[in-house]
Amino acid sequence: MGFFKYFKEEAAIIRDRDPAIKSNIEVLLYPSFKAIRKYRKAHKYYEKGHYFIARWISQRTARKTGIEIHPGAKIGKGLFIDHGHGVVIGETTVIGDHVTLYQGVTLGGTGKEQGKRHPTIEDNVMISVGAKVIGSFTIGENSKIGAGSVVLEEVPPNSTVVGVPGRVVKQNNIRIPRSDMDQIHLPDPIKNDIENLKKENEELKRVVETLINKQK
Ligand SMILES: CC(C)(COP(=O)(O)OP(=O)(O)OC[C@H]1O[C@@H](n2cnc3c(N)ncnc32)[C@H](O)[C@@H]1OP(=O)(O)O)[C@@H](O)C(=O)NCCC(=O)NCCS
Repeated sequence: MGFFKYFKEEAAIIRDRDPAIKSNIEVLLYPSFKAIRKYRKAHKYYEKGHYFIARWISQRTARKTGIEIHPGAKIGKGLFIDHGHGVVIGETTVIGDHVTLYQGVTLGGTGKEQGKRHPTIEDNVMISVGAKVIGSFTIGENSKIGAGSVVLEEVPPNSTVVGVPGRVVKQNNIRIPRSDMDQIHLPDPIKNDIENLKKENEELKRVVETLINKQK
């Protein structure tokens, strides 16, 4: 894609998602603008098997923008990375369309998986500042990942996830009630069954004793 077409597209994306921008020319100041453009170039080299040049572009861009996108990642259209410092996108990450990432986001691997090791981020997902999404699962479309979350498992579409480890607190705009369970004094179903059996046994003993006494 030519520079001016890319510039117009990026301007539309950034103006749509960052209220801080005042004019199209400011687009040139966004690290996201440079990082995504260079990623597209590096990805072409990667796909042709020119891994060294692909990594060279990616690492050089990481030094200049603070955004490290592995050239092997697959990224759809409309990605916006706001601010950008400390963003890392791993090799087998798949990103759909119109995804937003903030500074300090990691789309990484656990170090335990082989092959596809990084997450799949579906369309219109927003991953907030400092969130870590670690492993080869999917974040369903239209979901939001809260600031500072650490997400370790699949997220259904239209969900909000917060916390460490990340848990779904909203789905389809409906709040999921927090469990008010006492985490220290957890119920013990086996102990409860034994207590019930003891009570039944005592009751049976009492009935048998009454019957024996009646017969005397
Ligand atoms: C998660 C977020 C996107 C809000 O999504 P939402 O669907 O509108 O969710 P809500 O605001 O209704 O919050 C749902 C619950 O999660 C809690 N919550 C929200 N964000 C949280 C976070 N980052 N960590 C822990 N809990 C959080 C809320 O307090 C609320 O809890 P409650 O039900 O007990 O009241 C937002 O809170 C967030 O983290 N934004 C950060 C955006 C960002 O990165 N900005 C950087 C700009 S530089």
